[in-house]
Amino acid sequence: MRYSQSLIATRRDAPADAEVISHQLMVRAGMVQKVASGIYNYLPLGFRVIRKVEQIIREEMLAAGAVELLMPMVQPASLWEETERWQAYGKELLRLQDRKDNDFCLGPTHEEVITDIVRQNIKSYRQLPVNLYQIQTKFRDEIRPRFGLMRGREFIMKDCYSFDRNQDESLKTYWKMYEAYRKIFERCGLEFRPVEAATGNIGGTLSHEFHVLAETGEDEIFSCPNCDYAASSEKVPDSKQCPKCEVDLQSFRGIEVGHVFYLGDKYSKAMKAVFLDEKGKEQAMVMGCYGIGVGRTAAAAIEQNHDEHGIQWPRAIAPYEVALLSLKQQDDAEVARAAEDLYGRLQEQGVDVIWDDRVESPGVKFKDADLIGFPFQIVVGARGLKSGQVELKNRRTGKKDDIPLEQIEAELLKRLKG
Ligand SMILES: Nc1ncnc2c1ncn2[C@@H]1O[C@H](COP(=O)(O)OP(=O)(O)O)[C@@H](O)[C@H]1O
Ligand SMILES: [Mg+2]
Ligand SMILES: [Zn+2]
Repeated sequence: MRYSQSLIATRRDAPADAEVISHQLMVRAGMVQKVASGIYNYLPLGFRVIRKVEQIIREEMLAAGAVELLMPMVQPASLWEETERWQAYGKELLRLQDRKDNDFCLGPTHEEVITDIVRQNIKSYRQLPVNLYQIQTKFRDEIRPRFGLMRGREFIMKDCYSFDRNQDESLKTYWKMYEAYRKIFERCGLEFRPVEAATGNIGGTLSHEFHVLAETGEDEIFSCPNCDYAASSEKVPDSKQCPKCEVDLQSFRGIEVGHVFYLGDKYSKAMKAVFLDEKGKEQAMVMGCYGIGVGRTAAAAIEQNHDEHGIQWPRAIAPYEVALLSLKQQDDAEVARAAEDLYGRLQEQGVDVIWDDRVESPGVKFKDADLIGFPFQIVVGARGLKSGQVELKNRRTGKKDDIPLEQIEAELLKRLKG
């Protein structure tokens, strides 16, 4: 991609309502733009980050045996009445009516819709288990939307729903999803903890939240210094001691990026999602549900990866892995030629590269590249070219190396593999 062709508008100042660094940097780096409270545009750079997080999720869902589908955002009240959540859900549920005065809501979650799909299509134990997910826009009329994508009203969620023959099988699926979530957040380059959590109004009895550790996190979590026990503030024992080791738990701030629930038969019973078992007896399916906030994951990554100059994206979810900066190429035919040639070669190699081909000063290009946080920068300038060299900078370490122009491709590919 040529920088000049993309819509990238960086800015010096963060908006007044941006309280946390990820919100400030996402706006300043031109990743998102507010439309209304808690509702954002994903601009081209931000959208690439979203797509990369989604791609990691899709790969790990495939590996865990989950299948993608897409449900509507607009849901009829009749389905929500079956589980009595039409009354119970409260003001977060944005309700609307069509021209015939039928009641609908904007989906904040999809247990009812997915259970309706499954009850209509699955009749026998032979068709189970199934594990279905979507990546889709949710709407929750949050009382206090804030922190940008972290707590929006409209936001992208991966939500997954499993249906098994019995509790044992369902718990196996639960732990498989738990492991898939570990892999996803690891691959996103995040430092996180799975914590035992309360189940809230979703129902069910077993639940874990995945928290990215960050000082600005909205939640307090408690973690054992000796073992892997960790719990949310609602689940922690009054003694604030580890139930296994009986030592004092340590308190951390966390951002909840993912949440897995064992649901049991709460929805399947209410909605009669039943199947015939081996003996021809009718049984309620046993369910689990599993969510990841896609935008919140991107925001949490920034909370953990930034410095005073801007974002330091983990490689796997950077908008582009490499930025090629050509300095004053408009005044220097040799720089222009070397940059264009290198850009072509990197593209041929499949490198995820953006070429800052703008007519801007070197200072502006350096500042923007640091702010946006591309993991690698290659600088092509007249001074270096005189001795046949370009500069390769690692955004995270700040380390700069002069590399002979003819070796830059190989050197970069080596570092991208490493
Ligand atoms: N308002 C929001 N803005 C952005 N992401 C959200 C929001 N609410 C939930 N999420 C994401 O969706 C995931 C699943 O949500 P869920 O656990 O059902 O909601 P909650 O924890 O708010 O009750 C959360 O772990 C979080 O990553
Ligand atoms: Mg949750
Ligand atoms: Zn312990």
